Amino acid sequence: MKQKEKLRAVLNTMTFVLCVVLVGLLISACQSNIQLSKVSVPSENKPLITKQAAEEDFAYPTKDPSVEEGKKFFTQNCASCHGFKNEPGKHNFTLKYINSVTPSHLFKSFTNNPKHPSFKGALTVKERWDVVMYLRHTLFGLPEKYEDIKIKFGSNCAVCHGTRGFADGDIHYFLNPPPANFNQFDRLYEKTDEKLFDEITHGIPWTAMPPWAGKIDKDKHFEFDEKFIWELVKYVRHFGYTTEKDVLRSEELFKGKREK
Ligand code: HEC
Ligand code: HEC
Repeated sequence: MKQKEKLRAVLNTMTFVLCVVLVGLLISACQSNIQLSKVSVPSENKPLITKQAAEEDFAYPTKDPSVEEGKKFFTQNCASCHGFKNEPGKHNFTLKYINSVTPSHLFKSFTNNPKHPSFKGALTVKERWDVVMYLRHTLFGLPEKYEDIKIKFGSNCAVCHGTRGFADGDIHYFLNPPPANFNQFDRLYEKTDEKLFDEITHGIPWTAMPPWAGKIDKDKHFEFDEKFIWELVKYVRHFGYTTEKDVLRSEELFKGKREK
């Protein structure tokens, strides 16, 4: 008898909850109907692309920019006025300058800077990013000992950031905020090299990102000194562009797959 009553009570509560949910659904359905009828069509006063957006003409690339392509476009469009380090008679880019500006700043410098010729018409968005990465790569390229840094990144950073920098390391599930994805353009292109250096050196407060300055890797016998941290910044950056080497490497892989 008691059991039956209990069952009835449970059933009653369930019916009640169901009713509440149904009523809620109905109300929200009505509301979305109402909202739908309120949606306005783009008009003269409210164009889809704002004036500012059109002037800025800014977009992130849809795939990794190519350093090799960038070299071609730089030679054709910029080399008459610009060079590197101390080439005479040119506005030269220096390492110090490149480390102190964001990739996005470089893109905007020759896209929508009233004090500079605009290459909006001459180069597509992709081509302009290629040039940016060529500039960066020429002064601040791959780590000196690429394979060595790759291994050291693998044993110290990949547990969170993943070996390919996609933030998919073994323990990424447990971290909030999640590790940075080094392939995410709208994140990495908004930071200067100096900022990345600072974050690796001091860590990021209230996140799992630890400070690395002065740490010793006892397995591989090296210290996280300034020079090494700069090499790490180069390594973190290299996920965001492709070089001739990458192309050759992927062709090798492709060949390997085809022959199997
Ligand atoms: C007709 C000459 C000329 C051409 C062509 C030219 N630039 Fe420049 N650029 C300049 C001058 C002049 C400056 C300003 C230098 C200064 O402020 O000291 C400049 C500055 C810059 C800066 C620094 C902007 C800043 O404030 O941080 C960047 C980046 C740049 N140019 C990129 C390019 C790229 C990329 C191209 C080719 C797509 C290019 N420029 C083509 C003349 C030129
Ligand atoms: C225990 C996990 C963990 C390890 C190990 C780790 N990181 Fe991080 N890292 C993070 C997290 C989490 C963030 C994101 C913090 C945030 O959202 O501000 C981050 C952010 C960063 C950033 C900032 C990028 C950006 O766009 O915000 C850099 C650079 C970085 N890590 C480099 C490294 C390097 C290099 C190593 C190895 C020497 C390393 N990390 C090891 C967890 C880790």
